[in-house]
Parts: sequence; structure tokens; C-alpha cells
Amino acid sequence: MKEIVNLFGAIDLSVRLAGLFMPNPTMLASGILGMSAETLRRVAEAGAGAVVTKSVGLRASSGYPNPTVIQVECGFLNAVGLPNPGIHKFVEEIKALKDLGIPVIVSVFGFSPKEYAEVAGLAADAGASAIELNLSCPHVKGTGAEIGQNPRMVKMTVEAVKGSVSKPVFAKLTPNTSDIVGLAEAAASAGADAVTAINTIRAMAIDVETFRPILANRVGGLSGPAIKPIALRCVYEIYEAVSVPIIGCGGIMGWRDAVEFILAGASAVQIGSAVAFGGLSIFKSINMGLAEYLARKGFRSVSEIVGLAHKK
Ligand SMILES: Cc1cc2nc3c(=O)[nH]c(=O)nc-3n(C[C@H](O)[C@H](O)[C@H](O)COP(=O)(O)O)c2cc1C
Repeated sequence: MKEIVNLFGAIDLSVRLAGLFMPNPTMLASGILGMSAETLRRVAEAGAGAVVTKSVGLRASSGYPNPTVIQVECGFLNAVGLPNPGIHKFVEEIKALKDLGIPVIVSVFGFSPKEYAEVAGLAADAGASAIELNLSCPHVKGTGAEIGQNPRMVKMTVEAVKGSVSKPVFAKLTPNTSDIVGLAEAAASAGADAVTAINTIRAMAIDVETFRPILANRVGGLSGPAIKPIALRCVYEIYEAVSVPIIGCGGIMGWRDAVEFILAGASAVQIGSAVAFGGLSIFKSINMGLAEYLARKGFRSVSEIVGLAHKK
């Protein structure tokens, strides 16, 4: 990111998030290109400030049959079913990223707090910089949002993981609830080092010719531009209630969206669908736009604008 610093007169894009140093506030969101060391390396080379892996569980799973991902009017619908090689195999990919130069955040899931802690422990031992708990996948029974919609379970899960790893723990929250602030408070009270908001929103599409739901799982999660205003509202409300850092996610397609999330209270942002829509150049283009914006507005660093939309 040296070019940006020179171009816009010492604008500092770096972020310190729960003790992790990121050269800029952009991160790859979980589930997008995050299953192999090789693709995560390409994301780092493209200018991301950190990467989050695809969610990994204790045992290997092949996920749901196709169709698992479809494009809709203003985003993607997916119900992939958490396909993954299992943590015992995935540790090889984590170890291969030791020299990546940016934080590697391993997203984990389990079917009980104890299982989350077991997977997280193996990921941390393999060299993960931090753990992101998938408390929010909207389409797999017994994990993700089924645990993450219940504040008591969120608290128990975060506590179990904090008890088993010494790396920072992020809780990724579900918007499929009437009270995301309550979930954030539960995570923060259990010692989460940051919360990520949000995962996808339960949604579906129907093929009018065959009269059938299009996704094999019928219901999936909506991502992309359609969910940005919802995600932004979640970040804004969480910022007013908890003091842990927030990682904004949901429909960020360019630098303006990223700035909105930071003004709402996010210390960093995750990019998912935009990578699928437009490729890896999104990271550089957000960072360039952000640096230019900060310079134009007379700021010198990202941290100066975090939560600025709350100032009376
Ligand atoms: C195909 C696909 C797979 C995903 N897999 C995961 C996953 O394994 N774990 C997770 O926490 N989120 C997963 N997500 C959710 C994203 O990380 C992100 O929270 C969501 O897509 C909203 O961000 P976006 O609008 O920038 O895509 C997935 C999203 C998509 C589209």
C-alpha cells in the first residue's frame, strides 16, 4: 500500500484490530475463495489487509447438491451447506500460510460449544492469527445461526472458545434475529475480541416454469447489494451498545460502501459477493478510494473516522 501513502500525502490506512496489525481495513469474507492456501495467497497479493478462510468444522463434509449458488436481482442466494475438508486436513493449508504477511483468520463452526472450541484450538495451534466463529450460517441444521440466534448459546460458545485458544476470537453474528444487539452484547460479555456483522439473510427464489424452489436446499442466504442497508443498520446499532471492535460485512461493492460502514462504527470491512462479481481488484480499488476520501476530507488515518456518523 506504499503507493497510496505517497499519492495522498501520508494517509495511514493501517488498522490495529484486537491486537492484529492489518495494512488496510479490507478483509476477504469467509466462504469466498477461502478454502486453499493458494487462493488466499492470491487475495493477499491483490491487496487485502487480512483474509478469512471458508468455515471449517471437525469433520469433512461435501455440503448440499447443486444448485447451491444463484444470482438474483441484487445479489447472490447461496445454500452451499458448509462443504469443507475438516479441520484435521485443513491445518495443512493454515500452516502453508505462515509467511503470508497479513493476518489469517480461520472461520470455524461446530455443533456444540465444545466442538467449536475443539476446532478453534486445532486452527490456532496450526498458526491462525485469529478465529472467527461462524454463529450465523443460515442454512445448516444444528450449527451457525441455530446456535447464533440464541444469546445464551452465543455466550457459551464464545466462552468455550476463549477458554481453549489464546488468539483473538471474533463472533460473526446473524441478522436473522429481532435483536442483533443482544447477540453482540452476549458475545462481548463472553470475551469476544471483535464482532463481525453480518452473515447472509434467509431468502429464496422459485422457478416459475417448474414450480420448484431453485436452490436444492430451498432456502439459502442472501448476500450482495440487497443486504447493505440492513448490514449497515446492524453495525450502527451494535456500535452504540458494545465497545468491542466491529467488522462490517454485507453488500460492500466499492469504497463508498466501505466508508459508510466505517462511519457507522466498523473498524474493518469484509468483502464477499463483490469478489465474485468483479474479481480481486476490489481490494485495491476500495483502498485507493478510501485513501483519496480521507485526504479530501482532511483526515490522516482510518481510525479518525470510525463511528463518526454517531457524533451529535
Ligand atoms: C457462496 C458463499 C459462501 C459463504 N460461505 C460462508 C462461510 O463458510 N462462513 C461464513 O461465515 N460466511 C459465509 N458466507 C457469508 C459471507 O462471508 C458474508 O457474510 C455474506 O456473503 C455477506 O457479505 P457480502 O454481501 O459482501 O457477500 C458465504 C457467502 C457466500 C455468497
